[in-house]
Amino acid sequence: MSAIIGKAAAPQAVPAQEVKSCCAQFYESDIVRFLFGESFHPGGLALTTRLGEILGLKPGLRLLDVAAGRGASALHLAETFGCEVVGVDFGAESVRLATAAAAERGLGDRVRFVTGDAEHLPFADADFDAILCECAYCTFPDKPQAAREFFRVLKPGGQVGLSDLTRRGPLAPELETLLAWVACIADAQPVEAYAALLTAAGFAPGIVEPHDAALGEMVAGVRAKLLGAELMVALKKLDLPDADFPKAKRVTQSAADAIGRGELGYAIITAVKAA
Ligand SMILES: C[S@@+](CC[C@H](N)C(=O)[O-])C[C@H]1O[C@@H](n2cnc3c(N)ncnc32)[C@H](O)[C@@H]1O
Repeated sequence: MSAIIGKAAAPQAVPAQEVKSCCAQFYESDIVRFLFGESFHPGGLALTTRLGEILGLKPGLRLLDVAAGRGASALHLAETFGCEVVGVDFGAESVRLATAAAAERGLGDRVRFVTGDAEHLPFADADFDAILCECAYCTFPDKPQAAREFFRVLKPGGQVGLSDLTRRGPLAPELETLLAWVACIADAQPVEAYAALLTAAGFAPGIVEPHDAALGEMVAGVRAKLLGAELMVALKKLDLPDADFPKAKRVTQSAADAIGRGELGYAIITAVKAA
């Protein structure tokens, strides 16, 4: 994590593979789990359930969770809707933890996790009935390629559902760093741009549902936890040698300001592969 926080380069100057590795490492770190909890996206599992409803998940359907992280959403959706789920993530440690969680919850026969890159999905054409990608599409360096991969592995008639950060206009400089990129902010797109990226890959547009309040709540929660963690480190009750609190606080403060001004938001965006 220190490597990510300490990186001064503009994210555009960092090679794509490094951006993906940094992102995977960031979400494998204990401090991120402490700050975000189990679910690494605004709205938590309640918003995941909403996306599952929109996608029409049910027993017998095969869902792909792209950038599944530690598997919280995949496991929740399998339990809630009875579907089969495959989760793919760039981070090998996240995949290991997610696989262990599936076994622990007795879901190993219906939920599995594999390492892979969203821009080069390790699956056959038309392998899935639905695709979900939460708070991760905005971090992929080659978004058109990832959208083409979604289209390729989806069956005709299937739906893709993104939930992601949205931006309206330019962001403050501290939100254009690599840390802000892996925190899903720096390369967040306007909602119309996500829809256009999916359409360019061959999809027909689906629905757009704003959830800006969920982002505000998440950032407020992270800021409170950062202050708590800083206090515990100062009192020597917690050891977080990698944490750069001033920088993390600057980014979260700036994000909260941008949300307050309506420059950053969160939305569900779906699209359909014509039957
Ligand atoms: C904000 S977390 C979201 C995790 C999960 N979707 C959730 O909502 O809890 C972003 C995830 O994207 C993964 N990721 C980043 N780039 C990726 C890529 N190119 N292919 C697959 N996964 C990637 C990271 O490893 C991380 O687990």
